[in-house]
Amino acid sequence: MSSVKPRGALRDTDELAGAYARIRGFQNERCMELIELASPQKSETVLDLGCGTGDALVAVKERVGGSGRVIGVDPDKARLKIAIKQSRQFDLDAVLMEGKADDIAGVDDNSVDLVLSNYVLHWVLNKPEMLAEQKRILRPGGRFVFECGGELLQGGIRDFFDLIPDRESFYAENEFLNDAQWRQVIRASGFEIELFEWLEVQLQLTDLRAALEYFEAMTQGAFSAAALRARDVEQLQIKYPGEVVLPVSAVRAFLRKPL
Ligand SMILES: C[S@@+](CC[C@H](N)C(=O)[O-])C[C@H]1O[C@@H](n2cnc3c(N)ncnc32)[C@H](O)[C@@H]1O
Repeated sequence: MSSVKPRGALRDTDELAGAYARIRGFQNERCMELIELASPQKSETVLDLGCGTGDALVAVKERVGGSGRVIGVDPDKARLKIAIKQSRQFDLDAVLMEGKADDIAGVDDNSVDLVLSNYVLHWVLNKPEMLAEQKRILRPGGRFVFECGGELLQGGIRDFFDLIPDRESFYAENEFLNDAQWRQVIRASGFEIELFEWLEVQLQLTDLRAALEYFEAMTQGAFSAAALRARDVEQLQIKYPGEVVLPVSAVRAFLRKPL
C-alpha cells in the first residue's frame, strides 16, 4: 500500500460530499451575504471558486439571468458530481470543471466579471499564485470577492480540529493567514482593495452529533468521529451538552483588478 496519505479532495467520498450538501447551513448563510456584497449583475460571467456541491450557483444564476454565465470550479470530483446534478435539476446551464485556485486552465484570460469564493481560501497554500490566477481570468475592472477562515481560535473549531488523528498533515493542507500576511500578499498581487475586514461569526450546530457529522464532511474525512477516543468524546460531551456554538474568525475581502 502507498504510504502517501490522501489529502482534501482525494480523501473525499460520495457519502461525505452528500452530507456536506445537506448540512452546510453555516456556509450557506455566509455565502448569501457574500453574494449580496459581490452583487452579480445581469449578463455577467461569474466564477464560483471552490464551488463544492454547487449550492451557490442557483442564487448567482438568478442574478445574472439567461444572458449571464455561471462557472463552478473545484478539485473535488465527489462534490462536483453533486454540483452537476444540481445544475441539471435547476436547468442552470452552468459550466462545472475540475480545477484548483492556482490553476483554472479551462478559463480564458480576461473573461470573467466576478470571482466569488466562500470558505475555500484557507485550503489554498500558495496564495500569491492563487491571486495571480484570479487576476489572469478577470477582465480589467473585474472583482474578486471572498470570505474564508482566518486565524484559528482556541476553544472554537480547534476543539474539533485538534482531535484529527493526523492533525499535522491536516494543518499542513491549510494556510490560515493573519492580518499582516493577507495584506502583504494582496498588496503584492496588484489587486485594488475596496474592502478587507475581519469578522467574528458563529458556527451553530444543533448538538454534538450534528457537530461531529459536520466536521467529518467539512474536512473531507480528515476528522473522524469513529476515530475519537472515549475520553475525548466524554470531554466534548461535558463542554458541549446541548447546542454547539463556535466562534469563527473570518476574513472578507472585495478586490478589484485595475483597469
Ligand atoms: C468548505 S467547502 C466550501 C464549498 C462552497 N464554496 C460552499 O460555500 O459550500 C471548501 C471547498 O474548497 C474546495 N477546495 C479545496 N482546495 C481547493 C483549491 N486549492 N482550489 C479550489 N477549491 C479548493 C474543496 O474541495 C471544497 O469543496
